Amino acid sequence: MDFRAIASAPALWSETPCDALVVILLADAKDHGLPAALAGLLDDAVKAGDLALKAGRSLYVHRPAGVRAPRLVWSVAANDSAKALRAAAQAAFQALKAGGARHVAVARCGSAGIEAGHAQALVSTAHDAVYVYRHTKPSAVPAPLLSKVSVLVDKLVLKAAQHELAQAAAIAQGMALARECANRPGNHCTPDHLAQEARKLARDHGLKVEVLDRKAVEKLGMGAFLAVAQGSEQPLRFIVLRYEGARKAEAPHVLVGKGITFDTGGISIKPAGEMDEMKFDMSGAASVLGTLRAVAQLKPRINVIGVIPACENMPDGRAVKPGDVVTSLSGQTIEILNTDAEGRLILCDALTYVERFKPASVIDIATLTGACVIALGHHHTGLFTADDDLAQSLVASGQEALDPCWRMPLDEDYDEALKSNFADMGNVGGRAGGAITAAMFLRKFTGKYRWAHLDIAGTAWKSGAAKGATGRPVALLTRYLLRQAC
Ligand code: BES
Ligand code: MN
Ligand code: ZN
Repeated sequence: MDFRAIASAPALWSETPCDALVVILLADAKDHGLPAALAGLLDDAVKAGDLALKAGRSLYVHRPAGVRAPRLVWSVAANDSAKALRAAAQAAFQALKAGGARHVAVARCGSAGIEAGHAQALVSTAHDAVYVYRHTKPSAVPAPLLSKVSVLVDKLVLKAAQHELAQAAAIAQGMALARECANRPGNHCTPDHLAQEARKLARDHGLKVEVLDRKAVEKLGMGAFLAVAQGSEQPLRFIVLRYEGARKAEAPHVLVGKGITFDTGGISIKPAGEMDEMKFDMSGAASVLGTLRAVAQLKPRINVIGVIPACENMPDGRAVKPGDVVTSLSGQTIEILNTDAEGRLILCDALTYVERFKPASVIDIATLTGACVIALGHHHTGLFTADDDLAQSLVASGQEALDPCWRMPLDEDYDEALKSNFADMGNVGGRAGGAITAAMFLRKFTGKYRWAHLDIAGTAWKSGAAKGATGRPVALLTRYLLRQAC
């Protein structure tokens, strides 16, 4: 989809050549600053009782008199914030998506410029409106025609708006990749499929890629990762993607994504209900691919390395058993008390592996715990780090990107729960504070660099009628990386 900013004063809005004009109004505003033709139409609609100037309301008008566009949509935002704009834009694109509009122009009353969040709001809602999953459902209703969005802005902020829209567009394309990848079922999106996606990404966007197989992983000594993979017929993959935007000597920022392409729980098998959703257990990996795509397009002056341990977690005659003890790449031994706590087992070896890059920062992204969903629900990603600066930077990036995270505690008091009589640690710490003890487990492998963990179990996908991946937290991660460049 094509996004651009166009310099246009309110007086000229009704003349905009486009298939549909969307006008975002502010709730409770006394004067919307509209030109006569639009002001008259709005007045009519309000007087007729068809549009209340309350947040969340919208109205579609066909062949509006005195307006060049054949379609007009009024949509009312609660205020000037990016979040309110997102809700209003959602309603507007929803009203248009089944129709014939290809080129939509968006005008906002009472606001001159657009900040990062506003651009993100417009671009991601337009993308959402046209996304249709078709890979295994070719009969799905084809995507709407909408292919071009122009944002009408004051000429003083044209350049800035253009810049923000370009960033938001790259992020939205990264999100689309993450989403498509995560939506594909476990029999299509296998560990090797993730490796193929990484290779394709590298080819199309000039990244470097390296894929390790079981033999290479054995040679390295990733005993924890191997233990998870050993119950599956699908061969494991360990994927390393590099974006080089700065001098070679510059320390890279590393992203590590959990790539469990299906999580049955293993011998500690999960209940049947909703187990299908465990195809989304590679959403962390998908977000690493999506973020690298966005970064490769925007070309910031930094180095970024994406690392993805990928395998299935299956029950089998060869599968790892509760009580088995394995030796991780770090040399620390782990008693696997619950084979369903597999994410931390594949991540801990990846987190040790990345020490070799002498990273400026390491962020792992994982659908790690059901406990995180209980703690935070589906709006905020869980953020765990002992580094206050990193925490602040990630929280701010999430806010800016409309992809929020919330910091959770992470201190030694929670360590007690991971003690084992038979190994350096157990892999589970009981039900209480489950998201925190999982993060504490990972922390034991991250002493050598600045590190943060994002638990996206509640935010990576939606359940129910709208079941599907969200593409989160690609926006948060990309904004974070862009900040590191300036
Ligand atoms: N992939 C799951 C976490 C998960 C569960 C995410 C449900 C989203 C929805 C993870 O591998 C897992 O099974 N975690 C266990 C850990 C427990 C055994 C300590 C969990 O959360 O139940
Ligand atoms: Mn599990
Ligand atoms: Zn899992």
